[in-house]
Amino acid sequence: MKEKSVIISGTGSYVPEKILTNDDISKFVDTSDEWIYTRSGIKERRIAAKDEAASDMALISARRALENANLKPQDMDLVIVTTVNPDMLFPSTACILQAKLGIRNNIPCFDIEAACSGFVYGLEVASKMMKSGYYKNALVVSTEKMSSMVDWQDRGTCVLFGDGSGAAVLSVCDEKDVGILDTVLGADGSDTATLKMPAGGSLMPPTKETVEGRLHFLQMNGREVFKHAVKIMGEKSFEVIERYGIEPGQINLLIPHQANTRIIESVAKRLKLPMEKVFVNIEKYGNTSSASIPIALDEALKAGKIKKGDYILFVAFGAGLTWGATLVKWH
Ligand code: UT7
Repeated sequence: MKEKSVIISGTGSYVPEKILTNDDISKFVDTSDEWIYTRSGIKERRIAAKDEAASDMALISARRALENANLKPQDMDLVIVTTVNPDMLFPSTACILQAKLGIRNNIPCFDIEAACSGFVYGLEVASKMMKSGYYKNALVVSTEKMSSMVDWQDRGTCVLFGDGSGAAVLSVCDEKDVGILDTVLGADGSDTATLKMPAGGSLMPPTKETVEGRLHFLQMNGREVFKHAVKIMGEKSFEVIERYGIEPGQINLLIPHQANTRIIESVAKRLKLPMEKVFVNIEKYGNTSSASIPIALDEALKAGKIKKGDYILFVAFGAGLTWGATLVKWH
């Protein structure tokens, strides 16, 4: 079967209304706006309502992406959700989203759990399935309610994360050499301890002790993650660019995972890209895990920062450890 191009035909995003500023956080943990901003670049983050689940945020961003693509839920042949905050352990948030979108044809719907690299993993899985010729349109929706898993007593982590969702509609297209050009994915499972939520799974099901031990919250060795992120995001950016056969200087816009401004700046520096060619919105939303790239992509498009023919590079790094870089040529 002739290989098709796969383009991002629509994007959408959603962040909850409630804003939690650094000053707000400094009222309940020992921190300051100055510390948070200089160490991470974050000023504020969004917090979902108590009864607002990952699938509710996904529904809004997905509807916006479908509208932007001028397609209907029923046109989708595949739904992939990426999240570390599923509504529940099972069924998948993708199936819940399918029902909420009213998609009644029996298409495959499943979640990908690759932490902050989820969107890049989702793009690769969806686009490779689509290149088979069996799927014409797919939804890749990244949705994260990080506020439900951060330990609001731990200043080392609670200042960093936020809630939100970003979605992309992917469509096959006959034009050659456009859309998703190439992706590099990877993982190193020997380093699971640096970023994890220990309890709640089959290894440590919930008990009074796990709750009292605060083991149902995210735990992170920030310094370790930082070190790996800087190295790997730089390396993988180069790898995907070189493999496709262009120069780093040809990248028109780098859209990196938004975990820390210092990480982003170091990746840009390695690629010798000026910061005008890097999209950064971490100041407003903090780290929204896998949702950060699709939210940023949607904002970059709406801000007119992407035009036809541009080379866009997504690069992500997260728990697992996982990573991924995707090179896109805008259509
Ligand atoms: O999405 C992928 C996953 N996440 C990431 O990529 C995050 C990667 N890591 C980071 O972004 C950074 O490591 C952090 C922003 C988390 C921390 O920055 P850092 O420069 O690595 O700080 P640190 O962890 O080395 O801590 C420096 C000091 C410590 O005090 P001592 O031991 O030097 O006395 C911390 O206790 O800052 C202290 N500290 C804080 N102080 C005020 C840690 N958190 C806070 C805080 N407010 N919120």
